[in-house]
Amino acid sequence: MQKELWKAGNMLYPLPAVMVSCSENGKNNIITVAWTGTVCTNPPMLSISVRPERFSHGMIERTGEFVVNLTTKGLVRACDFCGVRSGRDIDKFKEAGLTACRADFVEAPLIAESPVNIECRVKQILRLGSHDMFLAEVLGVHVSGRYINEKRKLELAKAEPVVYSHGEYYGLGELLGSFGYSVKKQAGGRTDYEKKCCADRDAGSGKKHRRRRAGQADRFSVS
Ligand SMILES: Cc1cc2nc3c(=O)[nH]c(=O)nc-3n(C[C@H](O)[C@H](O)[C@H](O)COP(=O)(O)O)c2cc1C
Repeated sequence: MQKELWKAGNMLYPLPAVMVSCSENGKNNIITVAWTGTVCTNPPMLSISVRPERFSHGMIERTGEFVVNLTTKGLVRACDFCGVRSGRDIDKFKEAGLTACRADFVEAPLIAESPVNIECRVKQILRLGSHDMFLAEVLGVHVSGRYINEKRKLELAKAEPVVYSHGEYYGLGELLGSFGYSVKKQAGGRTDYEKKCCADRDAGSGKKHRRRRAGQADRFSVS
């Protein structure tokens, strides 16, 4: 089907919707943020983009600290609430029934009910336009033991994380694969892709797929 050309706009979805906690002079607050992302592996860094008019903006700018708290199915109502009410008017921890816990590196509190809390210190503020982007270094990560398996692996899917897409919240869907699975050898020494090629070749379309397969190995090497 033909595609329509739409005017430039924010179309990168789905995204996480996180609850960002902050604190100033003993006052705690939470702002819901969807304009967030991982920006660097080493040092570990992430970004949040916040409109200057948000109450939290000043708190984060002045203190240079915040905590990113991941949201779950059980927290989705609180997440939405923290995104439509301002800390200027209410105590969001109290109103949303959330528990503030001491963090290790920053004054901003952790949200106890969240399975993962990421303590952050602002390194740079980029004035982009409608939003200021806070580029921050990750100082420490708190992970609920409930989701760490016997191999010390985090099984985040068990916490039922939530994504945000075009104004709507969704849970995760079915597991479709894991990192690098497309080039991983299966029983019989073939990747899924090679198996498909063989099946196609057997069905009579071999030449074309054998050529693509040769280039495939280089392009998908996993480091
Ligand atoms: C799902 C969702 C995502 C949001 N994402 C952002 C965002 O990325 N940046 C932003 O400035 N505001 C965002 N908002 C709006 C703020 O969370 C909202 O204005 C909030 O009331 C600000 O709280 P504060 O005044 O206590 O800081 C979002 C709201 C919702 C519901």
